[in-house]
Amino acid sequence: KQEVKEVSIGFAQCTEGDAWRKTMRREIEREASFHPEIMLSIKDAKNNSATQIKQIKEFIREGVDLLIVSPNESEPIAPVIEEAFEKGIPVILVDRKVNSKLYSAYVGADNYQIGKLAGEYIANLLNGSGKIIEVWGLEGSSPAIERHRGFVEAISKYPLISIVAEVKGEWEKEVAKKRFPLIFEKNPDADLVFAHNDMMALGAYESFADKNVRDRLKFTGFDGLGGANGGLQFVKDGRLDATFLYPTGGEEIMQLAFNILNHKAYKKETLLGTTVIDGRNVHIMKQQADKILKQEESIKRQQAKVKEQIKIYNNQRTLLYVLVFC
Ligand code: FRU
Repeated sequence: KQEVKEVSIGFAQCTEGDAWRKTMRREIEREASFHPEIMLSIKDAKNNSATQIKQIKEFIREGVDLLIVSPNESEPIAPVIEEAFEKGIPVILVDRKVNSKLYSAYVGADNYQIGKLAGEYIANLLNGSGKIIEVWGLEGSSPAIERHRGFVEAISKYPLISIVAEVKGEWEKEVAKKRFPLIFEKNPDADLVFAHNDMMALGAYESFADKNVRDRLKFTGFDGLGGANGGLQFVKDGRLDATFLYPTGGEEIMQLAFNILNHKAYKKETLLGTTVIDGRNVHIMKQQADKILKQEESIKRQQAKVKEQIKIYNNQRTLLYVLVFC
């Protein structure tokens, strides 16, 4: 029997509490299951930068062979990432970035570009004129900063479009739902809610008791997840007007980790594709996303069966050995 050397990967996630991160986790675990030598450990910082720093330090102390980090905020997490990198641990940043160049590779979509895409789409949706309320993700996290910058750049070409107010939504639906009405009260003539993710857009949408006002407003988000509780469903049933696809990239992350660990060539930046999803293409996008979910379940079932077969085979082998030699 050939011995395969075990390798350990530590994944420091900023949060594990939402559907987007759960999707990423499922993809990562599926990919990891094709490489039995990989020992994957995931730590959840629950949106707290101090906790994440502590968890990354733990991974360094445990001597992981590779570190994956989705940094909660860009500034505070940078030094500990540099520390890991300088100790020779390869570091893959996913989805969010830090203010430092000392990391091995990044996987994620280009948030500045999607922000810009959103701005151009929305300017068109508003026919070149309108008042926008922006619902921000966590202000110190790179996707929020970059989505905002790209958006502002795009709408700056339209003098009749302006951001009239901002809500601190911190990426969380419940936070957005609670804070949105206080801001809307002061800006009742707004035309559109531009939220940095679908869940906050939904939070703002659900905060209205008055259906008429809600229906007059337009809502957009980012992510475009499949499943019953994802952005595609919200667009399909008209709660959101559009979403901008933000892929989770779990498969790409693990393939990259595998290449780095096996000293194969890899790219420093893997940029994932994105697109606009609205009433025109949501049906096909939803069909595709649901198909992938089904395939994922089928892979899981098949892997469970294979495991069971291996167990039966090993038991039978032991039995045969006992019968022949004992
Ligand atoms: C999930 C999430 C996504 C968003 C991303 C940005 O935790 O809030 O909705 O696109 O993180 O980092």
